Amino acid sequence: MTSSSQPVDASGKRITTNAHLISWVAEMSALTKPERIVWCDGSEEEKQRLTAEAVEQNILEPLNPEKLPGCYLHRSNPNDVARVENLTFICTPTKEEAGPTNNWMAPTDAYAKVGTLFDGSMKGRTMYVVPYIMGPKGSKMSKVGVELTDSIYVVLNQRIMTRMGAVALDMLGSSNDFNRGLHSVLDCNPDRRYICHFPQDNTIWSIGSGYGGNVLLGKKCLALRIGSYLGKKEGWLAEHMLILGVESPEGEMTYVAAAFPSACGKTNFAMMIPPKRFKGWKIWTVGDDIAWMRVGTDGRLYAVNPENGYFGVAPGTSYESNPNAMKTVMKDTIFTNVARTPDGDVWWEGKDGPIPAEVTDWKGNPWTPQSTEKAAHPNSRFTAPAKNNPWLSKFSDDPDGVPISAIILGGRRATTVPLVMQAFNWLNGVFFGATLGSETTAAATGKVGIVRRDPFAMLPFCGYNMGEYFQHWLAMQSQITNPPKIFLVNWFRKSKDGKFLWPGFGENMRVLKWIVDRARLRVGGQETVFGWVPKAGDLDLSGLDISHEQVDEATHIDLDEWETEVQSYGEFFDSLGPAMPRALKLHRELLLARIEAVKGGHG
Ligand code: OXD
Ligand code: MN
Repeated sequence: MTSSSQPVDASGKRITTNAHLISWVAEMSALTKPERIVWCDGSEEEKQRLTAEAVEQNILEPLNPEKLPGCYLHRSNPNDVARVENLTFICTPTKEEAGPTNNWMAPTDAYAKVGTLFDGSMKGRTMYVVPYIMGPKGSKMSKVGVELTDSIYVVLNQRIMTRMGAVALDMLGSSNDFNRGLHSVLDCNPDRRYICHFPQDNTIWSIGSGYGGNVLLGKKCLALRIGSYLGKKEGWLAEHMLILGVESPEGEMTYVAAAFPSACGKTNFAMMIPPKRFKGWKIWTVGDDIAWMRVGTDGRLYAVNPENGYFGVAPGTSYESNPNAMKTVMKDTIFTNVARTPDGDVWWEGKDGPIPAEVTDWKGNPWTPQSTEKAAHPNSRFTAPAKNNPWLSKFSDDPDGVPISAIILGGRRATTVPLVMQAFNWLNGVFFGATLGSETTAAATGKVGIVRRDPFAMLPFCGYNMGEYFQHWLAMQSQITNPPKIFLVNWFRKSKDGKFLWPGFGENMRVLKWIVDRARLRVGGQETVFGWVPKAGDLDLSGLDISHEQVDEATHIDLDEWETEVQSYGEFFDSLGPAMPRALKLHRELLLARIEAVKGGHG
């Protein structure tokens, strides 16, 4: 293989003359001291070569080529299976800029401390130079990043998740405007693991992990943490949102963006298949995790998906829950920490069909249904190309993005939050976002099942002060003269005996239809203290085996529960410190006063 500190591809052809890039790569290689440097061009030949190397080094295991052509299995270090929020830092000049929801390190301290770990971290190893674009090629909404990594797994994943290689170098040209990402797995020791973001320098340093969210630097690190900072600075929004298009039988297209915290079903929602009752309706996926949104000349909000693939949670994915995801992962997919069947197929808890009699579990050990541990890690993943999705929107690559008519915010809440509710106005909608709560899941390390405030599903991803982020959302109103309507949803409400009240998955189309009709101002609603909810009979429930009592319970607003809920925001708002916008604090006060007034009756 050709390797060189010169920017040449495998055939020796020079692939960039960008002096900023070349000198930065030289500087970083002087620090990390790799044995060789490989500049990635994103070609098919390169993919074949790196895949073969990864197989040889036991980083990837080939799967059954008949059942899963072009698919591979990767087992991560068992101590490295999720994002590490406690080891993720925002390194702004002052602590206030990072705000109270982020871990903070002063940039000079972070560069010194993590720099010491990077010193010689690639000795005897290869440094891959991975240029990539977040966003469609040629879009003014897109950003170029370059990740230097010593992990082939990262290169091959980045190749799926982004527009990677020569295409990015072409877009960059001779510009100095690119994100500088440095990553080394080191010895994969949690004591030597740091994910540091330097928003002012457009730089990310990630060390000591090989797990996706910590190391595929285009995704959470650039597209959300650095992206949100750039969005504030440049007047746009970088959000943890899926984007989908709803097509009616008449061919009318409506685009929505939706924020749900990690592992709350964004991928399922983005790939939803409408139930039989909705004959002729189609859902087109634009993105399943991240939306970058800018105001167009018509005053509407336009969204692009910065990613080019899906890094989805495997457990629970099945032909029943998400047939399109199952079709998407049938080829050219990298599976991480799932179980493997004796015939080279993949398996995870919640997959269709009978539970196999024996598999190799995610740690590589024999597993049977009698085993007490899970066969697949609860946060096991698939990395699959977007183009595999049979319902990929033809506008997913459109440099102008798609116009957003509705923004949906949702969490995993067993109580209180109704199936769907529309905000009265922009401020109310931002309040929904600012107070979003969800029970924790396995996507991050930590305790599972506790309600935590996860504003706009951005708690782990907002790269600056959360109060200022809310302020940015409020301020965007002046630019968005034709704003999307904002909705709160909850698919996860439970009955007193602990059963889910709403079937979810494809049946969420019924809620989505109401949202589309509301956004297009063609259906009424019931006013409550907190927002508009569907009037009795407004939700199309035909063909659905669900009792009216159950729907009533799923959509019910209980003033006592809400009083406790709104009270609890007080502590959260206070914890956000002086940057917390007054308008949202006053809105909370007003809600409490209104609840009191309504409960007080006629005196
Ligand atoms: C993800 C996450 O991987 O949100 O998308 O954790
Ligand atoms: Mn996510």
